[in-house]
This record gives sequence, C-alpha cells and structure tokens, in this order.
Amino acid sequence: MTTDPLHTQLCDEYGCEVPIVAFAHTKDVIAAVTNAGGIGVFGAGSRTPSELRSDIQWIRERVGDKPFGVDLLMPASLAEGNREDLEAQIPQPQRDFVAKLMADNQIPAPKEIVHGDGQMLKHARESLEVIFDEKVPIFASGLGSPAFVKDEAHAHGTKVWGLVGLPRQARRQIEAGVDVVIAQGYDSGGHSGTVGTFTLVPEVVAMAEGTGTLVVAAGGVSNGRQLAAAITMGAAGVWTGTIWLATHESATEMFIKQRLIEARAEDVYQSRAMSGKPIRQLPSKYGDAWKQPGAPETLQMPLQGMLVADILAGIKEARMEDWMTSPAGQSVVGIHEIKPAAEVVYQMVEEAQDAFDRIVGAPVA
Ligand SMILES: Cc1cc2nc3c(=O)[nH]c(=O)nc-3n(C[C@H](O)[C@H](O)[C@H](O)COP(=O)(O)O)c2cc1C
Repeated sequence: MTTDPLHTQLCDEYGCEVPIVAFAHTKDVIAAVTNAGGIGVFGAGSRTPSELRSDIQWIRERVGDKPFGVDLLMPASLAEGNREDLEAQIPQPQRDFVAKLMADNQIPAPKEIVHGDGQMLKHARESLEVIFDEKVPIFASGLGSPAFVKDEAHAHGTKVWGLVGLPRQARRQIEAGVDVVIAQGYDSGGHSGTVGTFTLVPEVVAMAEGTGTLVVAAGGVSNGRQLAAAITMGAAGVWTGTIWLATHESATEMFIKQRLIEARAEDVYQSRAMSGKPIRQLPSKYGDAWKQPGAPETLQMPLQGMLVADILAGIKEARMEDWMTSPAGQSVVGIHEIKPAAEVVYQMVEEAQDAFDRIVGAPVA
C-alpha cells in the first residue's frame, strides 16, 4: 500500500511515475512527457503505416522501456463505401456552399488536389498491424471501441484503451474488458460530446468498480488541482491534449500557440465543419462560416472530411491565418506561456501534491 495519492494503479500497471497521460501529434512531446514520468500517446490518425513505424522507432529510441502509446481513430458510425460511392453521397448544396466560400473569400484551390479518400478504417487497420508488430505498450482508440482487437493486442503485449464521451459507451467497453476507459467530457479539445467531465467521470468510475478496467479522466484538465480532483473522483489519472500544444516541443504553429495563450474557456466552440463529428476548436472564419444562417447541415463522417479536404488544404497553403484553427479545449484557460513539456508535467504534479497536502493538513471543523 502506498500513501502517495499520485501513485495510482495506472503507475502500478504501466510503470509511469505520475498518472498524467499526454495526447499529442508531435512525437517530441510524447518522448518528453514519457521521460518526465508520464505517458505520452502519439496521435497517428494522419500518418501512413510506414511513417508510423519510423515514428514508433524514434520514440522508443528516446524512451526505452518507459510507457507510451499510439492513438488512432476508428469510428463506429460512418458512411461506408469506396471513394466513388462516397463522393456520390455528397449533396450538391454542400458542394455549392464550399465552392462559394472559396470564390467569395479568394481561397485558392490547393496545388495538389487532396480529396480525402474516405478510407479511414482501412488505413487505421493497416496502422494497427504496425502498432502490434512494434509491440507498442498502449493502443488507444479515439473514436469507436477498441474491444474488437483486444485479444490480438494482448497477444502482442499491447493494452487497449478507449475514449468515451457517454456512459453507455463506457459500459459497453468495460463489459468488453477494455484495459482503460478514458472518460472524456464536454470541455475537451478535439472530438467531444455533451456530458461534462465532472459529471461523466464518477459515473464511469462507479461502472468500472470491481472490473479490471481503469478509468482515466479527460477534458478541461490543465492544472494539478484538477489532477487531484480526478484522483479523488476515483480516476487512475488524467488524459490531456490541449495543454501540450503550447509546449516548446509541439510542432503547432507559433500563431496558434499565441492564440491558445490569449483564448478564454468560453471562446473555443464545437463545430462539425471539419470532420462531421463535433470538434471543440479555436474560433476561425472557417468555423464561423458554417454557423452562419443559410449554411447547410454538415455531413456524416467521412463525407464532411472529403467535402472540405481541398478548402482546408487551400487555406493552409495560402496561410490564411484567420481561417485556420486547431482543436482546443476549455483547458486553454490554463495556458499562459510556452513551456517545455517536462515543466508542464512537474508543475502539475507539484500543484496536485499541494492540493492533497492542503486537504490532509486542513483543520477539521
Ligand atoms: C489538437 C488536438 C487534436 C486531437 N486529436 C485527437 C485524435 O486524433 N485522436 C484522439 O483520440 N483524440 C484527439 N484529441 C482529443 C484528446 O485526445 C483529448 O481527449 C482532449 O484533448 C482532452 O481534453 P483537453 O484538450 O481539455 O485536455 C485531440 C485534441 C487536441 C487538442
């Protein structure tokens, strides 16, 4: 028995020193957080299988036996078919809206026509093979339950983690024996649901009690008081995303880092305009355009992503900063400066320890 509340079951089972998990798309952040005692999880949704293999090897060279993971998006509900079938499902009013947006705002077509190919699940399955082959300690599924690969993953020494935003999703994953359920609240950056973190986490913790599944809290976490609160609610740790965007190691562009520093919690909004599922993000002219009266409904995943692949690539190529955005959660409120990732870990731990000390040291009324 340990008396350190920050040494949770996550530390026992995964060998991390502190129960802080960092999701990021930059592999330098992953290595830095894992080496600082947490667990880095690499968002690999847009990497090809061969890029992913070298990313994993790069990370492993830097972290050795310390724990890290790879995250993929494997949505359960999405339109299916080959590229042509999917293209045919994109309605004309949405095509016209995007074409007009480009024409009215001088958004150039990208040099290379991107057209998402809509084959998300096929790409994810190929990447999964790489994850298993490289014996990555953790596979996390950002959308959709990872239960269907649990046995195969375990045979390769890989634990499976699933992000959930609703109690019913959590129940299904716990019953299927997923190793860790990440209870991700409404406040969170990226794909996010409708239930707040403070409501969702205790409910999922109660569901997981007595099963082998651990619960990790996500959404809105940017400081150690929240880490202490998550542990007090019964979570085995926190899973965080937004705070790592403003670290030195993050490849996020400087103007976005600056916007993250300036943004208030109430500024970041949910929009389906990028992927078809609600993504909490920094405001932008692109996101605003889809909220205007007269804008059409967004489409189901992956049709929306296919529809807007070219306009988003054109905006990026032309560096139209007002039109560019990044997923970001209400946790932006905790970003005040750009820091090394390890410092973010140490500060969060120190604040959590202070929070626990204050409770234990508080006079009983
Ligand atoms: C820039 C960014 C990109 C994200 N992309 C993904 C993703 O590809 N897969 C995924 O599982 N979660 C993704 N997320 C969500 C995070 O995994 C995490 O659940 C979320 O950031 C937690 O809330 P927080 O941002 O308040 O810390 C993303 C979050 C951010 C900020």
